[in-house]
This record gives sequence, C-alpha cells and structure tokens, in this order.
Amino acid sequence: MQSFREGGALYGRGCGGSRYLHMTELGDPGFVALGLVAPSSEALADFAAARGLAVEPLDRPGGGTMVQLRDPDNYLLELVAGQAAAAPAIPSRSTAPNDATEKRRLRTVHRIDPKPSHVVRLGHCVLGVSDFRRSEAWYKEHFGFITSDEVVLPDGAAIGAFLRCDRGDELTDHHSLFLIQGPRGVGFNHAAFEILDADDLFVGHDWLQRAGWTPHWGIGRHVLGSQIFDYWRDPWGHTLEHWTDGDLFTAADGSRQASLAELMGVQWGHAMPHPAN
Ligand SMILES: [Fe+2]
Repeated sequence: MQSFREGGALYGRGCGGSRYLHMTELGDPGFVALGLVAPSSEALADFAAARGLAVEPLDRPGGGTMVQLRDPDNYLLELVAGQAAAAPAIPSRSTAPNDATEKRRLRTVHRIDPKPSHVVRLGHCVLGVSDFRRSEAWYKEHFGFITSDEVVLPDGAAIGAFLRCDRGDELTDHHSLFLIQGPRGVGFNHAAFEILDADDLFVGHDWLQRAGWTPHWGIGRHVLGSQIFDYWRDPWGHTLEHWTDGDLFTAADGSRQASLAELMGVQWGHAMPHPAN
C-alpha cells in the first residue's frame, strides 16, 4: 500500500481505483470509522433525507459528499458518494500459472521480485458487537446487507454473520462486513485487503517476516468465504489481513447457517489463534 499526506492526514492507497483505502489522523491509537460507498450521490441524498441526516462535502482526496451515522454500538459509519476515482495501477502478471490439467506458461520462466504484497482494495471489515441480532437488523435496514453465512452455536444461538452487499445480479464478495458477538467484545476486529494473487500473498508474507514482523495467523485457506488469508498485527495491536481467491455471489444466491468449527477452521494451513487474542 502506498501512503501519502494531505490536509494533515496520512492516507494509504492501493493499486485499484480508490483514492484511498485507509486514513490515519493524529491522535491516540484507535479505530475511528468504517467507510461505505453509496451507489450514487442521489442515493446518498435520499438516504440522508429519509433519516434526517446531513450531507456534508467530503474534504478528502477525490472530494464528493458524506453522511455520518452511528450504529447501535456507537461505531461511526461514513457513507460517501461522488468521489473521483483514481487511475488503477494494477501490475500485470508477466507469466501465467501451470497446473496439472492446464499449461498456460509456455517456453518462458516464472520469476517474482521480493516485495510487499500489492494491495488492490479494501475487501471487508469485521466489527465486534454487543448484541448480534440488534446490529444485524440495523445494518440490514440501513445498508441492505444480505446474510451469506450466519454462525450458529450448537444450542442454536446465532453469534454473528458474514454479510454481503445486495448488488442484484452483479457478483459481490461473500462478505464485505462480518459482525461477531464474541469473546473479544465490542471493538474493531480486523480490516482485510485484497491483494493480487496467491504468489503475491506468499511473497508479501516473506517480505514482512524478513523485515522482522511476526505473523498473527496464516497462511491458510478459510472455510467461510474460501479466501487464502494472511493476518498481521500493526504496532498498535490492530489486526490486518491480506487475502486472495474469495467466493463471489449474487443477491439470488441465498443464505446459509454455519458452525463455529467452520468459522474457526481452515481448509489447509495454520490453525486460528485463540479467539480471545
Ligand atoms: Fe477476514
């Protein structure tokens, strides 16, 4: 992720079309807000009018407008629209993979430079909530999220859900938001950034490890969402994830229930650290 300063804030941007993926302001370490993008400026204005909220100009890279609101646990949500896009600068993969059934890289070699993973976009955010059902209802009412997987304990109690955006027939990530009423209580759980591909994830993992950082969880492949994942902790204890190769669904693809074992388990790779950590 590239960083730049503007208007007293530090921004991180990826190589996709967003002007920034992360914003840091001077102050005590902490999670401040989650940003969501409205389909249009008109949709944002309608959203605000229906709730008696103010639409403010967005004095950040790309401009646009913003509506702020707080969820039942007092998390700040920033719904934005009309931001000018950045020119994507996604590096092209110079060579294609060969597998047992299909050979795509022919008469050339495969070489990858040691470098950080290429963050393309913010894929999802996970928030610890005090009352899952209350938060679920709130996010569905205000933003139209659809449940992909609801996590249910053996006694039938639901403790969280992977929520995807309702984009109709358009494909969208298995989850853009995960709400969890878990042992860590209310608080920011992690933010997850999509990187180029599996090679890029492993190369970035090596890069961070050689720079002296200790992996938090990974590398492995999730069950729910199916992503290949790699989790790290920043110097202030915030968890950040690199991921690639996740599931995509449309609005018509429905919802299912999942077990705690599916939530915490891996299809391969490192086991999850204790969930209280
Ligand atoms: Fe994640």
